[in-house]
Amino acid sequence: LASTEVDLTAIVPGQIITVKWRGKPVFVRHRTPAEISEAENTPLASLPDPEADSKRVKKPEWLVVIGVCTHLGCIPLGHEGEYDGWFCPCHGSTYDTSGRIRSGPAPTNLEVPNYVFVNDTKIKIG
Ligand code: FES
Repeated sequence: LASTEVDLTAIVPGQIITVKWRGKPVFVRHRTPAEISEAENTPLASLPDPEADSKRVKKPEWLVVIGVCTHLGCIPLGHEGEYDGWFCPCHGSTYDTSGRIRSGPAPTNLEVPNYVFVNDTKIKIG
């Protein structure tokens, strides 16, 4: 099946880009130190779908998630919502800086696709 390579060099800290993979949007987020510490220090007990940030990233600076709301499939908006992750405009689900669901009707976290770091500045999704 098709894979997609993403060059990370032009993505500055704080920036999110969207790439297409198998017809779906994938968000690649270069997290700032504040976003990383927020994601790492959130108590798991406060999460509807508890998952440690360390299980969702390969390197703390880089979050890669499928950009499809787990409620009914809308595309969430980055840097929006109470947890500064994503906000889904369809029914108001909010996600945090790890792409984990925090409030609203979505049942689960944004999905992390299979990907590898080809080198320090390039990932291959799929
Ligand atoms: Fe995102 Fe319903 S599709 S909240």
